[in-house]
Amino acid sequence: MRQSSLVVVANRLPLDDNAAPDGACEWRRNPGGLASALHAILAPTPATWVGWAGGVGRAPALPDVGSLRLRPVSLTEDDLRGYYEGFANSTLWPLYHDAVQQPVFQRDWWETYRTVNQRFADAAAEVAEEGAAVWVQDYHLQLVPRMLRDLRPDLLIGFFMHVPFPPPELFMQLPRRVELLRGMLGADLVGFQREQAAHNFAQLARKLLGAEATDQTVAIDGRTVRTGAFPISIDVAEMRALVTRPDVVSQAKQLRHDLGQPKRVLLSVDRLDYTKGIEHRLTAYSELLRDGYVKVRDTVMVQVAVPSRERVESYQELRDRIEGEVGRINGEYGRVGEPAIHYLNQPFGRAQLAALYQTADVMVVTPLRDGMNLVAKEFVAAREDGSGALVLSEFAGSAAELEQAFLVNPHDVDGLKETLLRAMQADRADLAARMAAMRRHLAGHDILVWARAYLSALDDTGHLATLTGVAPG
Ligand code: ADP
Ligand code: G6P
Repeated sequence: MRQSSLVVVANRLPLDDNAAPDGACEWRRNPGGLASALHAILAPTPATWVGWAGGVGRAPALPDVGSLRLRPVSLTEDDLRGYYEGFANSTLWPLYHDAVQQPVFQRDWWETYRTVNQRFADAAAEVAEEGAAVWVQDYHLQLVPRMLRDLRPDLLIGFFMHVPFPPPELFMQLPRRVELLRGMLGADLVGFQREQAAHNFAQLARKLLGAEATDQTVAIDGRTVRTGAFPISIDVAEMRALVTRPDVVSQAKQLRHDLGQPKRVLLSVDRLDYTKGIEHRLTAYSELLRDGYVKVRDTVMVQVAVPSRERVESYQELRDRIEGEVGRINGEYGRVGEPAIHYLNQPFGRAQLAALYQTADVMVVTPLRDGMNLVAKEFVAAREDGSGALVLSEFAGSAAELEQAFLVNPHDVDGLKETLLRAMQADRADLAARMAAMRRHLAGHDILVWARAYLSALDDTGHLATLTGVAPG
């Protein structure tokens, strides 16, 4: 068994479901913030990534991707239902996102969640060399840090929560709240996207475990667990390289041409998820059309909504509702050859996404709740010429950083309409000043800065940061 000094443990391997293990395995990113973010730092690093390859049954043997080893964890059909679709995505995901969708508490899911977490912990323990650092990701694997510590007390263990960590009044609803909290506290460092999350965590550690806790440390079982906010970011250099590529520039021009050279293009890019506020956005846009503030010939809306978690009922229902609404809006306001909304339910490559970002005049990112939202940051990074408007929900983690966006409360449909109009009508100088400020922020806070901050906090000797190549040069 080959072992590594750095091990990442995440529910998914950073490959999409269809990446065939036929020897020609390349790093194909699946849509979603976690894989997008870690791609940049891990691609050039000798490390092992432990995760699910998608599908059920025996996990395929996967070849290395550059210097990264892939250690697949297999899931059975029952695991998939109880752990991934059940406890992770029907209980934790909605609860952690302000319960914008009713969380489901089904008792038998817990046992599967625990068993699968143990399987991930066992796999990580197997591939980690003596004294290695193991970095566990996200809400799917909250029990892994503690399980791993029991198996391998020699390891340095990090945990990072990519999604919001809820306030006590929501977390307290969880039937297995104590185990979940204790699980995370197996780590040496628990990282969150926002300060508020670290604060919620400390409150819960005091309330549920009687631990001595501040927003920076939790004392438990004779150990001190450090906590903190490490807002994740994107590979700014990658986006910059993409948008200056001649083929991407001409693809963007072609897109605008294919859209009928409208005066304005509004763009949204989301996983098809009820946290993303797609329905509220469609309502706002349809009312702007109804009331004549927006004309189909002048303005085009493009909604990219990539299918996600398709076997989960709430996602199927959401998709039906959205597709019904898009159909209604196009039926009512579109003309022959001129739909009001271009709806694309497909995954795109990075270059295609970059071209889309370049084509947009107004990027509309209005989740009801989002840990960070990388799409907003990708749009800003893609605007090399400093043009374009970003409409951004106050409830996205990225709103704390991209303060010059047109910030909006997406629950307030009238406010949303008014903000969309303001963004569409803003003058160039205003837009340029906003974009310049957001781009400055992003340039100083890219994915490498995030990784450096987290890894140096996990290991203050600087060894890890050097190992991953994210140490300052
Ligand atoms: P979440 O993590 O909830 O999916 P984020 O906005 O943080 O939301 O991250 C989404 C990531 O998925 C981004 O990197 C984005 O570029 C990517 N993505 C979104 N839609 C698509 C798509 N249709 N095809 C490929 N990648 C996509
Ligand atoms: C969010 C989560 C990730 C997850 C991604 C895609 O970004 O934080 O952990 O991988 O969504 O969701 P999926 O269920 O397809 O992995």
